Amino acid sequence: MLPRPPADRTVAEPSRPPKPALEPTERSGSGTAALKANDGAYPPAGGVAALPALQPAELLDLHPAPSDLERLVLEGMARKPRQLPAWLLYDAEGSRLFEAIGQQPEYGLTRQETALLRERAPELARSLAEGITPTPVLVEFGAGNLSKVGPLLEALQPAAYVALDISLDQLGPSCRALQERHPAVPVLGICCDYADLDQLPPHPLLEGRPRLGFYPGSSLGNFDLPQARALLSRFARLLGPGSRLLIGIDQPKAPERLEAAYNDAAGVSAAFAFNLLRRLNRELAGDFDPAAFTYRARWEAAANRIAMALVSCHSQTVTLAGRRWSFAAGEPLITEYSAKYTPESFQALSAASGWRAIRRWCDGADDLSLHLLAQADSETSRAGGETPTQHHADPTPMRNAP
Ligand SMILES: C[S@@+](CC[C@H](N)C(=O)[O-])C[C@H]1O[C@@H](n2cnc3c(N)ncnc32)[C@H](O)[C@@H]1O
Repeated sequence: MLPRPPADRTVAEPSRPPKPALEPTERSGSGTAALKANDGAYPPAGGVAALPALQPAELLDLHPAPSDLERLVLEGMARKPRQLPAWLLYDAEGSRLFEAIGQQPEYGLTRQETALLRERAPELARSLAEGITPTPVLVEFGAGNLSKVGPLLEALQPAAYVALDISLDQLGPSCRALQERHPAVPVLGICCDYADLDQLPPHPLLEGRPRLGFYPGSSLGNFDLPQARALLSRFARLLGPGSRLLIGIDQPKAPERLEAAYNDAAGVSAAFAFNLLRRLNRELAGDFDPAAFTYRARWEAAANRIAMALVSCHSQTVTLAGRRWSFAAGEPLITEYSAKYTPESFQALSAASGWRAIRRWCDGADDLSLHLLAQADSETSRAGGETPTQHHADPTPMRNAP
């Protein structure tokens, strides 16, 4: 468990270097030497030999301050329907429950995407880094337990790996474990809300290096369409000109299948949502009674998304952040959306956000896609034609999800 920041800690100003939560920001000479040995060569000639132990992974803490959390919750509670930012689901217990969701038989996304990344890692790495010099840094958004990036790290051998996640309790141990498994790649964890970050914090590992983005898990689906567009544009700014982004996107499927995936028989998805009430009670002096709510995951066809909500069982009044909030019987508190995109709708979204889709890989069942995007203004000539290349894990002909 990491040391918790003091309760009144504020978000570091983007303009001043953030304070490291765990380790000093300087890297050892051996780490720097290893990076220089790979410069400009992809794949690195002869692979990268195991190095003497590097310094442990570093962690920067830019977690939103409690006052930001209170403001966001008050805004969300005032909306109709009430809706809180999805990142609030990820305290230590929420992160643990999300891992458990990934193991439920009904929820195939984690297994399918992990398998696709493992099978296609060399090809994905080649496409990501093609023509990019010097050796880039890989930046993962919403990195969670870092369980998906391993094959990509091995194939890509980036100059450094930077993991962004809101869940400080999970990020620290995960970065330390990853650094031990991949001693040749310096690991930096940044605890932050990536949707509220104007720039990556200044850090020696990020200086003078091209950046490649990685955003698996179909987390873009947590945002509504205007927010998703803004987020992809933000990623383009955070990564900088000429960058590329590999992003995992879940596709529409039969509503019964989707509803089952977000309402597993073991009740883990429900527990994940109810944990939010416990967090609000603990951190914002709430008095939610979980027994007075029921969990619901419903396909909203018009918006192509699953809406997950805690629905009030009867009319009631709740105290939260020093205010009283009335819930009517049947009134939902939206905990999370999970929007699904066909390849075409996702390519339209990325085009509207300053990205150009250049390749797509999907699993054998065409349930989900990994899209490779390049910044629209800098890639047109390098990437060639207008139609993105499509790659399947098996020879099944391409079909578009309904
Ligand atoms: C759906 S999980 C995906 C985890 C992992 N990327 C995967 O594919 O299995 C979402 C992850 O993003 C993190 N997260 C959610 N919203 C975030 C935000 N606004 N800023 C930073 N991290 C966020 C959560 O803590 C969680 O680890």
